[in-house]
Amino acid sequence: MSARYRIAVIPGDGIGREVVPEGLRCLRRAAETHDFALDVVEFDFASAAYWERHGTMLPGDWQPTLEAFDAIYFGAVGWPAVVPDHVSLWGSLLRFRRVFDQYVNLRPVRLLPGVRGPLAGRAPGDVDFVVVRENTEGEYSSVGGRVFEGTEREIVLQETVMTRHGVDRVLRFAFEYARGREARHLTSATKSNGIAISMPYWDERVEAVGRDYPDVDRDKYHIDALAAHFVLNPDRFDVVVASNLFGDILSDLGPACTGTLGIAPSANINPERRYPSLFEPVHGSAPDIAGRGIANPIGQIWCGAMMLEHLGEPDAAAALLSAVEAVLAGPADALTPDLGGAGTTTQLGTAIAARVGSTT
Ligand code: NAI
Ligand code: MG
Repeated sequence: MSARYRIAVIPGDGIGREVVPEGLRCLRRAAETHDFALDVVEFDFASAAYWERHGTMLPGDWQPTLEAFDAIYFGAVGWPAVVPDHVSLWGSLLRFRRVFDQYVNLRPVRLLPGVRGPLAGRAPGDVDFVVVRENTEGEYSSVGGRVFEGTEREIVLQETVMTRHGVDRVLRFAFEYARGREARHLTSATKSNGIAISMPYWDERVEAVGRDYPDVDRDKYHIDALAAHFVLNPDRFDVVVASNLFGDILSDLGPACTGTLGIAPSANINPERRYPSLFEPVHGSAPDIAGRGIANPIGQIWCGAMMLEHLGEPDAAAALLSAVEAVLAGPADALTPDLGGAGTTTQLGTAIAARVGSTT
């Protein structure tokens, strides 16, 4: 019997509503050609329209509702003309990440054919790495406060929180991930020269966890130098693991080194699979182009491939990515304007779907 996966689909706002249907078109095609089934249920919450009707971003029972699914396929949330960004983001996506303990944020950085990257002299194949960001603790803590506010004695403190549990589990994920790749190379982002308490601890844990992975080469760079190397020597990297803040920066810098925001995917993963993981493009709702049918659907399609990989369908995931590469390498007129073409979201999505399963 072929496998069956339950997918919760949340298009959200703006171009999320335009690119999600193209992502689904490609996922359905991957299911047909690779003999598995997708049960897709679409939800209208986590959107400005829902907020306007209900005054909240999510229904009270969102947690048990979404927990019943194998994965969440997410578009983008945010429509600042209707609901302030901190309300829409903290009221939806960030709650999913926390409550579902999606402690790994995974962002592939790969230069694809047909995409003009900003780095001179780099060809597809030169840049192919993954950023693994710790997604729940570290520098983004709510421990701290202000004392003597508004006076000359004003004090502001915000603590970094690193727990052995939290650090080790993301490192272990990164080592396992590196082990599954050809290069088997893990780079750790640190700053133990300047941040002299928490970062040496991070380094120590990399050493300790790394002992269980003698087959994975490891090195470390201070975050400032690492940022420079992303631009100057991106071919050095395979898997890069970083704390929440460093990972946040690197996971935007990395994809920026490979071209348009429209193609970058990401995954928020609960590796133990106690909760569903969430797959989304890196971009937001793009109010400036929403409604015009010109958004690039590739970020949404590529994160669909990451979802299939996570669900245990690596062949289908690879087929989806090959289809993206084949279409990008083909005539530019089928591509969306951000890629230099004159195509629409639907045309590009349809062209990619048609190639799924027909490339090897
Ligand atoms: P954005 O990513 O929506 O747009 C930035 C720029 O990139 C815009 O010029 C847009 O037209 C372009 N762009 C983005 N995706 C594209 C695509 N697929 N194809 C072609 N061009 C694309 O970021 P912005 O404008 O800062 O935020 C807009 C809204 O999205 C805000 O409400 C923000 O909070 C939200 N947002 C949500 C995210 C999420 O759901 N994870 C992530 C980032 C922003
Ligand atoms: Mg960011």
